[in-house]
Amino acid sequence: MSRLKRVLIVLGSAVAVFVAAVGGLFLWLYTDAKASTAGSTEFTNELAIPPLAKSVVRADGTRVFDLTMRAGEKEFRPGKRTPTWGFDGAHLGPTLRAERGEKVAVRVANELDEASTVHWHGMHLPARMDGGPHQMVAPGATWTPNWTVDQPAATLWYHPHPHGATEKHVQRGLAGMFLLDDARSKTLALPGRYGVDDLPVVVQDVRFDGAAFDHGHGLMASVGFLGDRTMVNGTLAPYKETADERVRLRLLNASTARVYTFGFDDDRRFALVGTDGGLLERPAELNRTRLSPGERAEIVVTMRPGERTVLRSYPLDAGLDFWNQRFSGGDDSFDVLQLRAAKTLRPSPGVPARLGLPEVLDGKDAVRGRHFDLRRSGINGRPMEMDRIDETVTRGTTETWTVRNVDGMPHNFHVHDVQFRILAVNGEQPPPALRGAKDTVFVPSGTTVRLAMRFDGPADPDTPYMYHCHLLSHEDDGMMGQFVVVEKGRGPGKVRTPGVHAGH
Ligand code: C2O
Ligand code: CU
Ligand code: CU
Repeated sequence: MSRLKRVLIVLGSAVAVFVAAVGGLFLWLYTDAKASTAGSTEFTNELAIPPLAKSVVRADGTRVFDLTMRAGEKEFRPGKRTPTWGFDGAHLGPTLRAERGEKVAVRVANELDEASTVHWHGMHLPARMDGGPHQMVAPGATWTPNWTVDQPAATLWYHPHPHGATEKHVQRGLAGMFLLDDARSKTLALPGRYGVDDLPVVVQDVRFDGAAFDHGHGLMASVGFLGDRTMVNGTLAPYKETADERVRLRLLNASTARVYTFGFDDDRRFALVGTDGGLLERPAELNRTRLSPGERAEIVVTMRPGERTVLRSYPLDAGLDFWNQRFSGGDDSFDVLQLRAAKTLRPSPGVPARLGLPEVLDGKDAVRGRHFDLRRSGINGRPMEMDRIDETVTRGTTETWTVRNVDGMPHNFHVHDVQFRILAVNGEQPPPALRGAKDTVFVPSGTTVRLAMRFDGPADPDTPYMYHCHLLSHEDDGMMGQFVVVEKGRGPGKVRTPGVHAGH
């Protein structure tokens, strides 16, 4: 053999070994990235129902709640005490409930050893009460926002919003539901007994490392944290017994990055009755409904006596590329919650054909349009700055916002203070599940959504509301912008944020 030949053979085998090693590593990462509990879950734990928050009504009619953020421990699995954060209790928070027209106040006490905030996701309220990154509550301090509930019945929620640390605060357990009722919702024949046939379903994915939560991001996961199993209301492998023919599930995706495609294991159909901002005009019959982080859906499922069915999350069908489909959790599937029907069931009325009042928000009276390009590195090319106001809108006007994902990974888009209508998805009429009131919308790569929204809140040129990607690590890293609402003809003011440090 010539010398050259021997050199070539040695080189060739070195390359082959290298390629095999890289290929093997990729194969391992690829295989390891897929999580599934579908079909293999033993439902051993009774579903916990968050208590309804107590409140007192002051002489002036204000309903006052107390919420205390604190650290604790919870036994998710027998014998393993996981350090957690929670509102009032060790993990998650009670369900607040109020009626349209009511004045509410919440005394938010922070007993953590770091500053946080509490944001009322989906609530229409003054910017100073919003609980965004400008309303930090220092350790030991109490913050008492108050506002008048002025929006239709809906399933809203609350969670911290400290700039740069929202993912961490939510993952440790700071999240809860805020239900709104109105005159109409109280007379509709929908299942409405809280915890009985009207169930809060707070879905989060988790991963444990020994007793503790493991909040590490996967090597390839550009969306952020992805757990290897799910829990509902903080209960792993949960089941719920029901004695009613129809059950309403108020689904909340309180995960920080994962998108769920909910359906049942037997593919039964259910009635979608509400989305983020309240009841649909009419129910939509579906067998799947998708929720990205922050979104809510109210569904009514019909049970037959003695049967069991499992609420499942199916793989994501959103046109993700090969890479993202696997490494952003798109191939994952989970058994989320088992429903167990009693041998005899109380009959429930059929789902009403008319639900919410029609609200015309078609964008025809829009005074201006805005464009938002979503990229991991920032919205419209720049990361969030606490003292920069990005957009100034006029009180009492309607606008259309066009939001494009021009990035190689999935994002979503959430706007504070308003409920918007989705006019179009990639130029086409949205599907039924996206026709109701929304405050958060999933925007996978290559997708453009057109939104119409009306800014009816009080003007406050100095205090911004947020818009952002609700994949919380993206938000923390700066995929967020700020808008203020001003009186006609006015400009933005100057942001005053006493003692707030933006850490990203
Ligand atoms: Cu649910 Cu700005 O957040
Ligand atoms: Cu929000
Ligand atoms: Cu994002």
